[in-house]
Amino acid sequence: MSDVIREVMRSFPLGVAVVTTTWNGKSVGMTVNTFNSLSLNPPLVMFAADVTKGNDIPFRESKGFIVNLTDDEETLKTFAFSPVEERFKLVEYREVEGMPLLSKAYAYVVAARREVLEIGDHAIIVGEVKFGERMRDPTPLVYYMRDFRRLC
Ligand SMILES: Cc1cc2nc3c(=O)[nH]c(=O)nc-3n(C[C@H](O)[C@H](O)[C@H](O)COP(=O)(O)O)c2cc1C
Repeated sequence: MSDVIREVMRSFPLGVAVVTTTWNGKSVGMTVNTFNSLSLNPPLVMFAADVTKGNDIPFRESKGFIVNLTDDEETLKTFAFSPVEERFKLVEYREVEGMPLLSKAYAYVVAARREVLEIGDHAIIVGEVKFGERMRDPTPLVYYMRDFRRLC
């Protein structure tokens, strides 16, 4: 049935973001297509992390995370495909609340970790939004048919 999910989901255009945090004194981040808002009151956001790859561990073990919305394809590819230890050497960022905020973000939210729900082979990481900002209008990308596509 995982084949069915893959086959169907590749034809479902999904927004993409880079989630970042600081874990054991190091900046970590990954591209996700599972970011969404979950609740307005309280203000909660979520994404799902692949437990089989250990993608959940930094986000379980840190106080929070930043969701970076970016329309820069290189940045999205860097945080999906480049070696984990190289990623922050390839991008510009500054620290906000002790966590890396990517310079190529057009909007972001800073969230405090609220819950981690392990379901199947993923963990849903839920965060409470502390603050955030949209700095400019994007030319956004979606992930569709296993590729990044520009919307406009
Ligand atoms: C478009 C796209 C969306 C992704 N979404 C997720 C996601 O929601 N959750 C996740 O754990 N991994 C997701 N990944 C994979 C992670 O980005 C990747 O596993 C992570 O950066 C660690 O890199 P590694 O698997 O090479 O160690 C996605 C990858 C791509 C290309």
